[in-house]
Amino acid sequence: MLCLVPPRRKVAWASRLLAWYRRARRALPWRRTRDPYRIWVSEVMLQQTTVATVTPYWRRFLRRFPTVRALARAEEDEVLVLWSGLGYYSRARNLHRAAREIVSRHGGRFPRTLDAALALPGIGRYTAGAVLSIAYGVPLAVVDGNVARVLARLFLVRGDPRSPRAARRLWTLADSLVPAVGPGDWNQALMELGATLCAPDSPRCAPCPVRSACRAHRAGLQEKVPSASPRPKTVAVEETAALLRRDGAVLLVQRPGWGLLGGLWDLPAGKPESLARRYRVGLTLGQVRHAILNRRITRTVVEAEARRGVRLEGRWVPLRDLPRLPLAGAARKALAAGRIPQPRGADRAHGGADRRDSG
Ligand code: ADE
Repeated sequence: MLCLVPPRRKVAWASRLLAWYRRARRALPWRRTRDPYRIWVSEVMLQQTTVATVTPYWRRFLRRFPTVRALARAEEDEVLVLWSGLGYYSRARNLHRAAREIVSRHGGRFPRTLDAALALPGIGRYTAGAVLSIAYGVPLAVVDGNVARVLARLFLVRGDPRSPRAARRLWTLADSLVPAVGPGDWNQALMELGATLCAPDSPRCAPCPVRSACRAHRAGLQEKVPSASPRPKTVAVEETAALLRRDGAVLLVQRPGWGLLGGLWDLPAGKPESLARRYRVGLTLGQVRHAILNRRITRTVVEAEARRGVRLEGRWVPLRDLPRLPLAGAARKALAAGRIPQPRGADRAHGGADRRDSG
């Protein structure tokens, strides 16, 4: 018979890890609830983003959308405005679509089974495992970057944890360890260890509750395991952004598609030659820098006017409406270069995302 669930492994260090977690865990706001919706929002925001950045966004998001139904009723633009600065906007769009499915197909309750959770937009094995284990106590494992590093060290799994082979091994290990009782605390204890002591560089082994069981530590390899995946080369990109103004409004275009910035509003931008075909370019207003993943973008912001006879793409947006529109980070900077007051509506009470892909 095919055995899909690996045999449960009993490890002597489990109780030490849990005792440490209960004592040392950070008091994070989403740890004070068992509401699957609140936990789900936190898990989606925490993908690729640090706790420090996520916390104020999570609070604002849940103040505005306290329930799945409230989120499902919202317009997508408003959801994106509240996400503005967190990056990876497809996360927000999927969250919104999934909320609508939860209302239409699951009576407004986050589903309790793995298959039903995985059928929702944007929910993969990690998010499903995290929400179901933490909110409902379903014994499912999670492997994110932190857990992968902890397990790779404890069990001395060599190789890039993101390679299919190592990832399979790590998920199998995680599945075999997750307890039938208290899987949410177990998963969060592994995440917490990775986020605090078992750091990528210079792990702090002295206070680690499971140091004596750690095969990497025993071999003196804790700094070498897991092996780092090669960073993508950075690419320098130069482009021009056109600031067109008319009667208290600016011309903005919506980025197409579902990519990193799909759906966000931006100034018309591109190569100078292609902009010059559509616009008459005037004064240079400044240069702004922006980074998205491995692209380092330098934008020259220029005043511009439409050429006669050229049909303009985009929308004239009155300045007072800017706070209600999800703007790309590069657009905010370009508007600032043009001395256009920055919308500071619901979003960004602080410096924005701490990643390189903030959109
Ligand atoms: N990262 C993702 N989910 C987390 C959680 N529940 N606790 C700590 N860090 C996390």
